Amino acid sequence: MLSPNGVFLDCTFGQGGHSREILRRISKSSKLFAFDLDSEAKIASKKITHKNFKFIQDNFKNIGNYFDKESLDGILIDCGVSSPQLDNTLRGFSFRGDAPLDMRFGESVKKTCEEVINNYSERELKYLFQNYGEEKQSSRIAKKIVTIRKKTPISTTKELSDLVISVKKSFKKIHPATQVFQALRMEVNDEINNLKNCLEASKRILKKGGILVVISFHSLEDRMVKNTFKEKIKYHEKDIPFTNDQLQTPSFSISKVFKPHQEEIDFNPRSRSSKLRVIRKL
Ligand SMILES: C[S@@+](CC[C@H](N)C(=O)[O-])C[C@H]1O[C@@H](n2cnc3c(N)ncnc32)[C@H](O)[C@@H]1O
Repeated sequence: MLSPNGVFLDCTFGQGGHSREILRRISKSSKLFAFDLDSEAKIASKKITHKNFKFIQDNFKNIGNYFDKESLDGILIDCGVSSPQLDNTLRGFSFRGDAPLDMRFGESVKKTCEEVINNYSERELKYLFQNYGEEKQSSRIAKKIVTIRKKTPISTTKELSDLVISVKKSFKKIHPATQVFQALRMEVNDEINNLKNCLEASKRILKKGGILVVISFHSLEDRMVKNTFKEKIKYHEKDIPFTNDQLQTPSFSISKVFKPHQEEIDFNPRSRSSKLRVIRKL
């Protein structure tokens, strides 16, 4: 169990559900920092008046710039998009509305989805749909995008969604554009690289005995979590004398995957594909 005393970090504040729960459980003298890129999250964070809570509007890839080595007792990363971001059709994350193709988690994100859709090559689009979307019809969708945009740029969520439907035709359990939208969101926000940087920084800033909890929604993310913490660099006798960094290479224990119970899925259907892992610095 983790002690309720210490310094904690919520890397993905969203609407603050997890942060509020953490604040309820930690001692009065403990501190909680929370990050999010989104201005809406910043507004939501103002409702928290706890004196030891601080919100930072920045990318979680930068957490290493804010905290010293071995200074945090607990870190939480809840990957992906929040429900309010998805439900606000004007943000462009959802195929249900008709809005500009934006999909940025915050104004500081450099490119929009419209730029990706209209500027990436057919091969790049296919790669995204295949790797980030695990979309079986990647080639046909990428080809259709390139054909259509030669006549007129694709600029709204409805245009993109209709285009995907026209290629896929058949409707199964999920909306046909789900995987394409997911892939584009991951590319626009550089989600895989940001997570990689955040995990690497967590290794360093977590105290011995401290824990990191990661909730992920994509197999690439979970694989990255596993690989980042299972790696243990082995040094050879020929490297003697070892540097301090070599001698102090930390190791980690990593839990199995926890999946949500049916009760939680009924209450929050978006949790259905989530995977949670707990990593402890030894
Ligand atoms: C799944 S939601 C978190 C929900 C939150 N746990 C709650 O209880 O409301 C993910 C949040 O992370 C933010 N986010 C995603 N990538 C980020 C990054 N690289 N840096 C900072 N915030 C990020 C998104 O803007 C979004 O608000």
